[in-house]
Amino acid sequence: MKHMLLIGILVAISTISIHTGLDSIGLLPPQASAQAIAIDELFEWHVWMISFLFSLIVVTLVYSLIAFRRRRGETGDGAHIEGHAGLEVLWTMAPLFVVVYLAFIGAQSLGETRRVDPSALEVDVIAGQWFWRFEYPGQGVVSTELVLPVDRQVYLRMESLDVIHSFWVPEFRVKQDIVPGQVTELRITPIMTGSYKVLCAELCGTSHAYMEAVVIVLDESDFADWLAGQSASVEDDPVARGRRLSEQNGCLACHSVDGSQKVGPTWTGLFGSQVRLADDSVALADENFIISSILDPDMQVVEGYTAGVMPSNYRDLFEESQLDDIVAYIISLGK
Ligand code: CUA
Repeated sequence: MKHMLLIGILVAISTISIHTGLDSIGLLPPQASAQAIAIDELFEWHVWMISFLFSLIVVTLVYSLIAFRRRRGETGDGAHIEGHAGLEVLWTMAPLFVVVYLAFIGAQSLGETRRVDPSALEVDVIAGQWFWRFEYPGQGVVSTELVLPVDRQVYLRMESLDVIHSFWVPEFRVKQDIVPGQVTELRITPIMTGSYKVLCAELCGTSHAYMEAVVIVLDESDFADWLAGQSASVEDDPVARGRRLSEQNGCLACHSVDGSQKVGPTWTGLFGSQVRLADDSVALADENFIISSILDPDMQVVEGYTAGVMPSNYRDLFEESQLDDIVAYIISLGK
């Protein structure tokens, strides 16, 4: 009995110390959404359980090693211990209740994070290899940054152009896969202004690790100003339109505009240059070459690059006039 009491006290001390330690190192990023509060309560329960179970096992183990070690001169067998029905019932029932309780609070949090607010702001999220694009329906606004008002629920309708991606802002806690051919949904209520990052949380190809977008949470009036400013700026200049299209469709994730090497060839100085292809022939990078490289990327692969890396669905994404805008942008990057 003395041993049980001592172990009990040591387990309690160890549990509290480990929990305090884990709490102080900041396991979680800031709580920037209403959904994060419900989810962090679950984390809090789990951190307590982790601290307790670790202590229960390690304290009992270390205590037994010391208290029940073989003393000098002891040569006999240890005491023979029969099972203990009471203990068996206890360690079966206790985890059962814990698991049922966790399922209960889990379901409660799920309901809380999915609660529908009819006045939610709708934003369409388009994910592709390897970019994010955000469209504000009814506003005519398309953006490569996700700009949101604080304290208002946002309803994200998400679609993928190619493979499975996953929308994840750690500060908002919630995460949702985006599956081709389906519209998946996510509801977030930002509660803190600031700047965050959308990360892609599903391995989706060569540039998966760089598939990020900026999230900016503004107060209501700043958000209204941003929205008004965006919808007013309809570009007349083909180069500006081309630059915007390249940003919004992920071209610049793989092609640099400063001469540096990324996943694909740089666009700087491309137009009008002689390009050596993988089959050792040489092509002139004129308008036709650029457009056919966008529409059918594997037909003429540049030397040093691999076929099959550039997504082949751009022919479904761009209209003819948009291709001309992109060519205009590439021409503007120098010959
Ligand atoms: Cu998109 Cu990983």
